[in-house]
Amino acid sequence: MALKAPRGTKDILPDETPWFQMLEETARRVFQRYGYQEIRTPMFESTELFTRSIGEETDIVSKEMYTFPDRKGRSLTLRPEGTAPVVRALIQANLLKRQGEQTLYQVKYGTPAKFYYMGSMFRYERPQAGRQRQFHQTGIEFFGCSSPLADAELIAMLSDYLQALGFKKPTTKLNTLGNMFSRKGYNDDLRNRLAAMKDKLCNDCTRRADVNPLRVLDCKNPNCQALFADFPVLKDFLDEESRTHYETVCAALDDFGVVYEESSNLVRGFDYYTHTVFETCLEGLGSQDAVLGGGRYDGLVEELGGPSTPAVGAAFGMERLVMAMKACGIALPSASAEGIVVVGMTEKCLPAAAKIAQDLRLKGFSTRFDFRAMGMKAALKTATKGNFGRMVLIGDDELEQGIATVKNLENREQEAVALTDVAAKVCGSLSV
Ligand code: HAM
Repeated sequence: MALKAPRGTKDILPDETPWFQMLEETARRVFQRYGYQEIRTPMFESTELFTRSIGEETDIVSKEMYTFPDRKGRSLTLRPEGTAPVVRALIQANLLKRQGEQTLYQVKYGTPAKFYYMGSMFRYERPQAGRQRQFHQTGIEFFGCSSPLADAELIAMLSDYLQALGFKKPTTKLNTLGNMFSRKGYNDDLRNRLAAMKDKLCNDCTRRADVNPLRVLDCKNPNCQALFADFPVLKDFLDEESRTHYETVCAALDDFGVVYEESSNLVRGFDYYTHTVFETCLEGLGSQDAVLGGGRYDGLVEELGGPSTPAVGAAFGMERLVMAMKACGIALPSASAEGIVVVGMTEKCLPAAAKIAQDLRLKGFSTRFDFRAMGMKAALKTATKGNFGRMVLIGDDELEQGIATVKNLENREQEAVALTDVAAKVCGSLSV
């Protein structure tokens, strides 16, 4: 049987990679403007990291993780998301220890602890357009600042990034889950309501009703959704501190000119969130239309054994961003014609042509050489298939005279140049 990529995974072939490169390059450029630095963590972690951070009752942990024992029987999990691994890495490196108002990271490196990452994530979900089992995220995490202005700056940066990619000003859905106290009040209320309808709930919700009532709101079962339709929303349970935090985020977003809409049903499928949560959806993606999601997670660092550290972050789905860019008619920037194609016109000329190609590459030029003899017609055909600005031709006559013909493919002019001078002289007109 022919071997195929596993269900829910996709090869990103060279006609697709430029889209991902554009996402990555733009992310680096925009995020660095806001002081974010790159962090890379392992693709797999101990399972406990995710059960303790994302939450046992979430869909991700209870249904979607790729978990396996290694050869020594330790339970490992392919990372379903990047936040918990970044927190684990910072705790392990002791960088979040407080020194007065600042984290040790801030003291040591002189910058706030702001990180971005890019890479594969793994979730055992039912594959469909925009939903894969291995997908790519670009994430950002900001540690050590509890100010609601930090939430607003981060959301504004995400909007800045989307606009830098060519999207029009996006609308972000915004909600607050309040602090631990507000959450507890809401959870208690939900618990009482759910107890009264126990026999009508699905199995998952029956279990969640006791252990983690907030998670019933993630239930996809239409019967359950109908039962919860007129439940109060978390916003009704906010205490003073939570309300002020949320209102300050909204006011700052207004100030920054970021477009958002309040969405009181947005709870996000992770237990670690506190206060602000948000998601941005784009058109043209069908049912899987969220390109980014995030929020504040003030309790997570402590939960995982680190010092109490406020934090806020978000992640983009890169496949979904590519789909949305194509759906919106955003084009890749066209490459300038700066490559060189080198052609040996007979077998005998190939070694000299190969040497010229090598010289050009060492000088920094992107150079194509095809290892086979080619006549003028075939050579010109090859040249139309790439972004080539010059063609260097060596035929038997040229070889005998120690020269090459260099053709400018833009204005079709050509000149004879000594073999030893090709790299230095002719290509001076092209930028490396
Ligand atoms: P998330 O909402 O689970 O958040 O994922 C972020 C984005 O990843 C989604 O908006 C979506 O675009 C993409 N995504 C998620 N699952 C899939 C999938 N199966 N296939 C394709 N794309 C997918 C998080 O992961 C949080 N860690 C974000 C965060 C960072 N919160 C705080 N810091």
